[in-house]
Amino acid sequence: MNNIKVMTVFGTRPEAIKMAPLALELARRPEFEAVCCVTAQHREMLDSVLDIFHLKPNYDLNIMEPRQTLSTITSKCLTGMDQVLEEAKPDLVLVHGDTSTTFAGALAAFYHKIPVGHVEAGLRTYDKWSPYPEEMNRKMVGAIADLHFCPTQTNRDNLARENITKGVFLTGNTVIDALKTTVVKDFCFTDKTLNNLDYVNRKVILVTCHRRENYGQPMTNIMTALRRVADTVPEAELVYPVHLSPVVQEVARQYLDNHPRIHLIAPLAVDEMHNLMARCHLVMTDSGGLQEEAPALGKPVLVLRRETERPEAVQAGTARLAGVEEDTIVQMASRLLSDPSEYNKMARAVNPYGDGQACRRITDAIAWQFGAADTPPEEFSGR
Ligand code: UD1
Ligand code: UDP
Repeated sequence: MNNIKVMTVFGTRPEAIKMAPLALELARRPEFEAVCCVTAQHREMLDSVLDIFHLKPNYDLNIMEPRQTLSTITSKCLTGMDQVLEEAKPDLVLVHGDTSTTFAGALAAFYHKIPVGHVEAGLRTYDKWSPYPEEMNRKMVGAIADLHFCPTQTNRDNLARENITKGVFLTGNTVIDALKTTVVKDFCFTDKTLNNLDYVNRKVILVTCHRRENYGQPMTNIMTALRRVADTVPEAELVYPVHLSPVVQEVARQYLDNHPRIHLIAPLAVDEMHNLMARCHLVMTDSGGLQEEAPALGKPVLVLRRETERPEAVQAGTARLAGVEEDTIVQMASRLLSDPSEYNKMARAVNPYGDGQACRRITDAIAWQFGAADTPPEEFSGR
């Protein structure tokens, strides 16, 4: 029997972090011929991840433009993928999550009548505009995909509500697989600011913020709230690796520059980020990936959004929705920073999103679906 030719397609930082361990697992296993195509929807932030995981793509569409629009990303990915799929002719295309690359990658495979596997399937807010455009991207990919790899049972339940019950596997999230390879005890940061911080006596708050639906007033509110937290809590040190989006760069610098305890730094390589998260006191973020990683590391998370498609950590008590209103964010952060019993209630390591075995389960499931294994994979047992 010929090897099963599986093409991973990704383009942004979070997709790369969550797909790299899977691409490496596919390359390691004898049943598969692994091919990797990057759209480079992100350029520098993608390359940083590829470097850390020593992953060399076979195809690179190199589509990124400054201040790119949703339409240009989608159309450039779609036409770029045409040629790649024509040449590589994979048996299966794997896409991840909910970005424009994810949607265009799945659509391109569908146009070529190639089966699609969706990694990180079944996340939903049921609000078309939040997260925007991700909620629609993942729903459209869910409609196209033949295989659905759900991180949690909640995600599987969401798909069942849409009558998607065939080819669905409960695997855990591959981000936990990645996290298990990056966090080490005596990690030495290349960033001087991070090496010099006093993680024991100061309260280091790790901040990120980039979502499109937060552009405008919500992002202004968030930045103003962060500055107020730094002003009013003398032991707080805010570390904010600012996303390279010019929109985000502008607003972050406008509101947070020139404060002795706010450190605006360049985006971190993923191993630096994970080790910073392991040492920090609190995470304040609108990022999807950070909401999954921080609970695994026992760090409380204040989610800077109105809703979340990742309710598991909120239910487990390690994440809280802080919204996008200035006063609420300040109040919630101040309480956690001043009340040890409130803080300790949240600072417990829980792992609703995975156990580090998601890539093995996904590859086992593909092997089974293509007749190269006799049994389906065992399932992830988290809720
Ligand atoms: C994208 C995804 C979002 C994901 C986020 C992760 C879509 C619609 N959005 O949003 O779901 O949460 O990535 O970070 O797919 N830029 C650089 N260098 C880089 C990366 C970005 O200069 O390495 C700048 C460019 O000017 C680019 C802009 O950032 O045009 C925005 O990038 P884009 O991928 O369009 O949007 P994100 O907000 O990053
Ligand atoms: N991340 C990183 N460096 C940074 C910021 C984030 O490596 O400076 C990682 C983070 O640990 C997580 C992923 O990038 O694994 C999340 O990406 P992002 O927040 O850009 O996107 P989202 O998850 O919201 O789609």
